[in-house]
Amino acid sequence: MHKNIDHVLVSAEQITDKAKELGRQITEEYKERKEVPLLVALLKGSVPFLSELAKHIELDIQIDFMDVSSYEGTESIGDIKINLDLHCSVKGVSILLVEDIVDTGRTLKEVTRLLKNKGAKEVKVVSLLDKPDRRVVDIKADYVGFTIPNEFVVGFGLDYNQKYRNLPYIGVLKKEIYE
Ligand code: IMP
Repeated sequence: MHKNIDHVLVSAEQITDKAKELGRQITEEYKERKEVPLLVALLKGSVPFLSELAKHIELDIQIDFMDVSSYEGTESIGDIKINLDLHCSVKGVSILLVEDIVDTGRTLKEVTRLLKNKGAKEVKVVSLLDKPDRRVVDIKADYVGFTIPNEFVVGFGLDYNQKYRNLPYIGVLKKEIYE
């Protein structure tokens, strides 16, 4: 385990198993509705989860990326800023947003609103983690990997000041690292 990690919350194996399960569920539900989603991954945190999940979605999906920022250190800051926009047109498209974590919910709410304004047919959300205790806006992911307590976590895409994204598990960062 990395020396700055207090404890592991979700192991690499649990993540792999969950991605498989979510991939199957997504495949079945979209097949039943005869929809094929465009996966929109929010950079950079959702990249490891996207690559794990996409392998298990048996549909002819397309993938695109957006980069929005809402976070500085461990504190959420109001409105989001678009650093990188989509390449694909989303008019009439069913979008499945891929997130690393839903925390206050502000990012998802803003991005969903934006995609709908651009003419998306529907916007659904799959998130590896959900921290419901921190929610300040009314939004819920359609597919959630793990519901976690109100602790600052890193690894499997999640960072603290751009570090720890490469850890293969989700861990709780030692308090002395960010206090
Ligand atoms: P929200 O807009 O508050 O829901 O924030 C979502 C974004 O905040 C996520 O995509 C993460 O990048 C970041 N974030 C929220 N909680 C954590 C955490 O515990 N560790 C690392 N990043 C986090």
